[in-house]
Amino acid sequence: MSHPQGLFVTGTDTGVGKTLVTVALARALKAHGLRVRVMKPVAAGAVRTAEGPRNDDALALIAAAGEANVPYEQVNPYCLTLAASPHIAAAEEGVRIEHALIRARFETLRAAGHFMLVEGAGGWLAPTGEQETMADIARDFGLPVLLVVGLRLGCLNHALLTHEALAARKVSMAGWVANQIDPAMGWVDANVRTLTAHFSLPPLMTLPAGVSTRELEAAADRAALQIISRLYFDPREQQNAGLQAGTDAALRIGQHMQPGPIE
Ligand SMILES: Nc1ncnc2c1ncn2[C@@H]1O[C@H](COP(=O)(O)OP(=O)(O)O)[C@@H](O)[C@H]1O
Ligand SMILES: [Mg+2]
Repeated sequence: MSHPQGLFVTGTDTGVGKTLVTVALARALKAHGLRVRVMKPVAAGAVRTAEGPRNDDALALIAAAGEANVPYEQVNPYCLTLAASPHIAAAEEGVRIEHALIRARFETLRAAGHFMLVEGAGGWLAPTGEQETMADIARDFGLPVLLVVGLRLGCLNHALLTHEALAARKVSMAGWVANQIDPAMGWVDANVRTLTAHFSLPPLMTLPAGVSTRELEAAADRAALQIISRLYFDPREQQNAGLQAGTDAALRIGQHMQPGPIE
């Protein structure tokens, strides 16, 4: 496969819209005919059910991907009950987060050539053990990163730090999302322009505070077209990914868009 088949979604922080964006993208990519699979390698914060602990993010991703027959444990290998940093929740629960196990589940999930959408826990360097972080998991997967920037005062520093940390691990940033999580934030446009200049890349999606379902769907649809046009430029890969004939027109539109750094 010449192109990475998926995206690892990280954020400038927890609660910045990673799940919101990942769910919307999963739906939009599916609507364009891609076979999408989702993963939440580590989740902290779960409810107990008869089948075992279940995490809201993982359930939302599974519902969006519509792959009801994939076992929950494949999508979310580590579902910790406590809503704390994963390594603290794991230690409290006597669990060791094994990256090799996560990697194995990931390879099984993507085996059939699906487009993988993976949501990290917390931000890029959220610890998963004494030494390891989410970044190690992401790098193991070999997927480019989609960075969700939660627009609020202080986000420029967090966004630029994350960008540097990606580069330090030689992980490419496929795109970023400007998500206004603070309705009272001033100079939103100036902040977006600043990040566009630093990243040399405009946002793949721009979401206002209190985004409506319609706005979110429209933004995700445009983003999906860009992702498809950049990842599946080769017609054979389009076929492999399960794209339908109806997507051809969308692809022609996508090809006129600004090329991004996905390679
Ligand atoms: N632009 C937005 N407008 C309205 N609500 C938002 C927006 N972005 C995020 N939210 C809400 O904020 C909360 C945190 O978002 P979520 O996607 O769960 O973040 P993360 O996955 O990064 O922890 C959710 O309730 C989500 O619906
Ligand atoms: Mg989430």
